[in-house]
Parts: sequence; C-alpha cells; structure tokens
Amino acid sequence: MTLKLYLAPLRGFTDYIYRNTFNRHFNGFDAAVTPFIPTSKTTRATPSHLKDVLPENNASMPIEPQILCNNPADFIPLAKQLYDLGYPTVNWNLGCPFPMVAKKQRGSGLLPYPDRIENFLTKTVPAIPNRLTIKTRLGRMDSEEIIQLMPIFNRYPLQEIIIHPRTGKQMYDGEPDLEAFKRCIKMTHHRIVYNGDITDLKSFQNLSARFNTVESWMIGRGAIVNPFLPAIIKRGKDDFTDRVETFRSFYQELFEEYQRVFSGPGHLLERMKGFWTYFSQAFKDGHKIRKKIHRTLKLQRYLEIVERFFEEDAEWKN
Ligand SMILES: Cc1cc2nc3c(=O)[nH]c(=O)nc-3n(C[C@H](O)[C@H](O)[C@H](O)COP(=O)(O)O)c2cc1C
Repeated sequence: MTLKLYLAPLRGFTDYIYRNTFNRHFNGFDAAVTPFIPTSKTTRATPSHLKDVLPENNASMPIEPQILCNNPADFIPLAKQLYDLGYPTVNWNLGCPFPMVAKKQRGSGLLPYPDRIENFLTKTVPAIPNRLTIKTRLGRMDSEEIIQLMPIFNRYPLQEIIIHPRTGKQMYDGEPDLEAFKRCIKMTHHRIVYNGDITDLKSFQNLSARFNTVESWMIGRGAIVNPFLPAIIKRGKDDFTDRVETFRSFYQELFEEYQRVFSGPGHLLERMKGFWTYFSQAFKDGHKIRKKIHRTLKLQRYLEIVERFFEEDAEWKN
C-alpha cells in the first residue's frame, strides 16, 4: 500500500496562495482538495470565481476542485468547465456543517435526504466528463444517516469517498466516531479516505493501525497548526530541527503573498488573525500571542507584535 496524504479544504485558509507557499517550504502532501466553489447563477463561471483553481495558480501541487451544490443543472456545467481547465476529477461537498449552508440542503444539509442524493448522482454522473469523488460527514443530525447512503454510493462509479466521521450538528465538537467510520468501510465498494483530528504522528499511527485497509488520509487543521506534520507522517519520525526559523520564513512569505492580493489592511489583518488561531497552537504558551494578535486593530501594531514574538518568545511546542 502506498500512503497518500491530502491537504483538506479549509475555506479562508487553504487557497492557492497558502498551497503554493506551503509547498515552497514544506512537503508531504500528494494533493489537495480545494475549498468549495459555490455554483453561480450564470451558466459559465467567471475567471475570478475560478481563480483558486486556475492552472496557472496551481503549478505546485495536484488539486481536485470541490463544488458545493445540490442540483445537477448547476453542477454539470461547472464540472464541465473544470474539465476543460484540465481537471479530470471533481469533488462534491456533502459535509459543510454551517447552518447557512445546511439549511438550504447543501453540504451536510443534504445528508438526511437519500432520495435527493440518489437523484443527483443519477443525473450527474453520466452527464459529466470528470470522475467524481465525495467528501462527506456521517449525517447532518444523526450518524446513522450515512447507513442509508452507503448502498446508494455503491451504485455509482465514484473514485473515492472522503469521510469526516462527525455529524454536521456536531461541527467540530466531540470525538470523531471511529466505530461509525468502521461501519462505512465495511459497507462500501469504494476507496475510503479518512479525515479528522490527525494532529501528530501518534494520532496518525493509531488510526492507520486501526484502519489498515485505508491508504489515503486527509489532514486539515493539524497541518495548519504544524506544517511539518505531513512530512513527519511520511518519514515516520518527528525529528525536524530549526522549526521556528523554517516556520518564520514560511509565515513571512505567506504574509507578503496575501499583502499583494488583498486590497486593504483590514482584510489582510483579518486573514492573518484567522491563521494565528491555528499557528499559535504550535508554540509554547501560544494562547498569549493569539490573544495579543486578536486584540489588534491596526496592521502596523500587528507587525510589531509578530516581529517581537519571533525575535523573543517563539518556542516550538514539541
Ligand atoms: C475554517 C474551515 C473551513 C472549511 N472549509 C471546508 C470546505 O470548503 N470544504 C470542505 O469540504 N470542508 C471544509 N472544512 C472541513 C475540513 O476540510 C475538514 O473536513 C475538517 O476540518 C476535519 O479535518 P481536520 O480535523 O484534519 O481539520 C473546513 C473546516 C474549517 C475548520
């Protein structure tokens, strides 16, 4: 078996700027699923709508574009457009837990409706030139919802199914339901990818020992906190040195790249605050720097705080 690692889609984080910068400083990911592209009202998506997946922005790693949508009439033209851009595989988002999305029966909001999912697949799979993968949770309200869905998925030639074993209602609370994940593996004819709460080598090794038929693994938050993680997993040992220096040069470039694309300092600062929610967790006493950054309203002040942190306080946790 060949171990494969995917970077998870995190909207607001793992866009092409992050992916490219990551790959200049770290390694270990074989591919990424992109943050979701919502379908648009017009028949052809504009280049700005597709900026994150344009091939010229994605030379550094293979990507699979993800679509958030609940009806074939909107999904099919976008999938075709993505095929023409060079993407033989697209991913369907059946996992997004956010109430605004789920209420409209999109993402995890579609999981309680097996008939709608079947109807979607019946119409979509034969009509698109791409192979389809699915990223799903166990259900919206109840982790049993997936039990109805696995036999439906089995009837279609899906390339793989990525499962985050929580319900939508759970958001990110509680533990992933590993028993339910095991049931899915037993029920499926498809290749299954595990996703959820891989935060270090040990958590990966425990999961891979327990699910020894799973070849492919997806990591999101754990890799944003610790970008060395995919390489650590691939090497099977956690022995990087100079972590703060490597991380600092990655961070610096990430900041400069976002500075180039964001129009105002407000947007840039918001984006950076988002990242530091995760970055801070890699450092000893990380809550201190997170709080300082989150209180900051001015970009200049933010820059001083981060500079001082790297010069004086930054110490990698493990
Ligand atoms: C801020 C944020 C944004 C996310 N955006 C997406 C998304 O666009 N598409 C998607 O399928 N999942 C999205 N997810 C879910 C992640 O891809 C992943 O399934 C989840 O974080 C669990 O994996 P992890 O524990 O390795 O992070 C998002 C998660 C977070 C926290």
